[in-house]
Amino acid sequence: MTLFDPVDALSETDVAVRVRGVTKEFGSGDWLTKALRGVDLDVPYGALLMLVGPSGCGKTTLVSIVAGTLQATEGEVIVLGKDLAAMKSSQKVRFRRDNVGFVFQSYNLLPALTVVENAAVPLIIAGWRRSHAIEAASEILDQLGLGNRMTSLITELSGGQQQRVAIARALVHEPRLLVCDEPTSSLDAENGRITLELISKIAVQPDRAVIVVTHDSRVYDFADQIASMEDGQIKSVRDCRTNACKNPPLENS
Ligand SMILES: Nc1ncnc2c1ncn2[C@@H]1O[C@H](COP(=O)(O)OP(=O)(O)O)[C@@H](O)[C@H]1O
Ligand SMILES: [Mg+2]
Repeated sequence: MTLFDPVDALSETDVAVRVRGVTKEFGSGDWLTKALRGVDLDVPYGALLMLVGPSGCGKTTLVSIVAGTLQATEGEVIVLGKDLAAMKSSQKVRFRRDNVGFVFQSYNLLPALTVVENAAVPLIIAGWRRSHAIEAASEILDQLGLGNRMTSLITELSGGQQQRVAIARALVHEPRLLVCDEPTSSLDAENGRITLELISKIAVQPDRAVIVVTHDSRVYDFADQIASMEDGQIKSVRDCRTNACKNPPLENS
């Protein structure tokens, strides 16, 4: 028997991510924080969008909502044609597992596991046979230049190498949406550029999209679009390919 599924019934949109009127409040009363105050944002397929803005303006909150790890207070979030608010939490977990890769600011790697085991975790959780998961993880680690560190422990790696393991883990299940929260913040200029180059080479595909939170201006030239955030809202979006700017910031403001 096939049950009607309101989530699957939604038609695909022409953008990978559509955010409309999203607000997010933390706490209540005297402790109320309005982290997002009505965010509208589109991320087209085939694009790498950078989200920039001062510390505390709501970048992590917004990308966590888009990645499905945090619930919006109000508003609409359509990811790969699916309405996140319409999903039960078990559906959301499955959707995330199958479609979303997340690189956290603090890498969240498992220190007791080797490099290749860390990168294979999403596939093992998805039920893959261990040997197949390890093989797929080895391939992506190879592309990221860690082919000679497969059996090292995480603690034996430099910060830049750990960052690349976190990226391998986020990409190993070939997610259609990759979200990276400040992936270059603890890297030097050269490793920052190498990391963004790898992300854009591997993850930017016609049927996929990438969001990178950053305030590292050294990597802006890898962006297709740059969305500037301020005080819980998107203030402007610049298309780097055409140099067109939606809601351009006012001169001298
Ligand atoms: N779990 C939380 N509880 C209470 N306040 C939070 C929480 N997460 C974020 N905030 C607040 O929401 C605002 C936006 O935070 P965040 O999204 O982390 O900003 P950014 O990533 O741009 O630095 C900040 O004022 C922050 O203190
Ligand atoms: Mg943040």
